[in-house]
Amino acid sequence: MTASPIASFPSSRPRRLRRTPALRNLVREDQLSANDLIWPVFVCDGEGVTQEIPSMPGVIRRSVDLIVEAAQEAVDLGIPAICLFPYTDAALKTDGCEEAWNPDNLSNRAIRAIKSAVPDIAVMTDVALDPYNAQGHDGIVRNGEIVNDESVAALVKMALAQADAGADILGPSDMMDNRIGAMRAALEDAGHIHTTIMSYAAKYASAYYGPFRDAVGASGALKGDKKTYQLDPMNAEEGLRCVARDLAEGADMVMVKPGMPYLDLCTRVKERFGVPTFAYQVSGEYAMIQAAATNGWIDGEKVMMESLTAFRRAGCDGVLTYFAPEAAKRINAGWE
Ligand code: PBG
Repeated sequence: MTASPIASFPSSRPRRLRRTPALRNLVREDQLSANDLIWPVFVCDGEGVTQEIPSMPGVIRRSVDLIVEAAQEAVDLGIPAICLFPYTDAALKTDGCEEAWNPDNLSNRAIRAIKSAVPDIAVMTDVALDPYNAQGHDGIVRNGEIVNDESVAALVKMALAQADAGADILGPSDMMDNRIGAMRAALEDAGHIHTTIMSYAAKYASAYYGPFRDAVGASGALKGDKKTYQLDPMNAEEGLRCVARDLAEGADMVMVKPGMPYLDLCTRVKERFGVPTFAYQVSGEYAMIQAAATNGWIDGEKVMMESLTAFRRAGCDGVLTYFAPEAAKRINAGWE
């Protein structure tokens, strides 16, 4: 028996669609746009001041005047949002974390300055006590315990001060129980009905945050670890329960953090809840790519773009990344 001429040809040649840039562009399933990026930036005191962060090569702290310039740069690049992290002087850190809701603290001054000079950008904040806490924790510490409800009361004051200053997106990153509901109720009561909340919903107790803690000056202060409130890296179902809880309490958007090591969560969150889902490509992820690139072991620019592509493929609507301006430049220049 001779084989039929048709059967002797392969039925499928997927490489047909990979042959030319035009065909590849035509069938590309997803696109990364500058609109998908949120740029986390570090704010410090002074004027005209920049400070390097050794564990995050290429990232600097900027004084408020230069943060305003960075916000304008973001808008010019098509980046819709900037996220502020203050470097707080050790002298302002207390056990009660009072500086967190000072209307004139560094973060609130930066929000006002940006909103008055660059009104088009969305300003996101971090709602957690660690920059202001003498103990370095995201909640208030009493007798060695991170006390939940007292911390939530403090976080609500902090959130209100940020909303008063004009923040568009509040980012509670503290992982205390019931904080989203408490903040949402307080915002409604205060008339801040349009202030959005992007909760750090599935936030894991991760070693990838190391360089960030240097950047905000919290590494020296932290006593112990954050495992009694941040999630166990082994627990995906618990992460999903936290997302469900934050949505029920009034979060508008949710975040998975860290990003690349937790892409499974990104996909499951998007598939299960269908809500605006973000990932945070955290400081350690950034530092690893930069370190390998600096050593010439990888092509930093290509790995940067591929790493950001992964978040889109996993189902994220956007990503917080220290690469935001570099990536936006690359995208705007026509990246293939
Ligand atoms: C503070 C906060 C952290 C990060 C964002 N907000 C550190 C932490 O939880 O210890 C980490 C961001 C990064 O590593 O880039 N609650």
